[in-house]
Amino acid sequence: MTENKQTIIIGSDHAAYSLKEDIKKYLIERDIDVKDIGTHIEESVNYTDFGINVASSVSTGKFERGILLCGTGLGMSMVANRFSHVRAALCADVFAAEMSRRHNNSNILVLGGRVIGDVLARAIVRVWLDTPFDGDRHQVRLDKFDGLGEKIEA
Ligand code: RB5
Repeated sequence: MTENKQTIIIGSDHAAYSLKEDIKKYLIERDIDVKDIGTHIEESVNYTDFGINVASSVSTGKFERGILLCGTGLGMSMVANRFSHVRAALCADVFAAEMSRRHNNSNILVLGGRVIGDVLARAIVRVWLDTPFDGDRHQVRLDKFDGLGEKIEA
């Protein structure tokens, strides 16, 4: 049974490497396919490179949803939200994760490996995976900013 399985693309820097490994394990336990683009070591790397890789893959529709992790989650959020059609949500609690799906249709979840522990991170990922988008008025609001960057003149 592989045809209905989602594949989640995941990436982190060194500061969240161990949390990425744990979240990857959780996704596999849930029978979700994972595309791990690294980092694969604890040596210092630039979060930017991994953020661009995941966000561009979601932006172009190659992957529907992704997870990004760095120390605070801030750098990854900043990078990911530069990409059209990406709605990256930095979540440090379950309520934010739920609302990021229901109201914002977030397609990238961002976690801070130096901010939250693995048990909370798993709970956040669970809610983020399982909560659908409410649509309706929220879609109208999303449409107002999707692709906005392309319209702004310098
Ligand atoms: C790495 O030291 C750290 O700056 C990075 O993981 C992240 O927190 C950046 O926003």
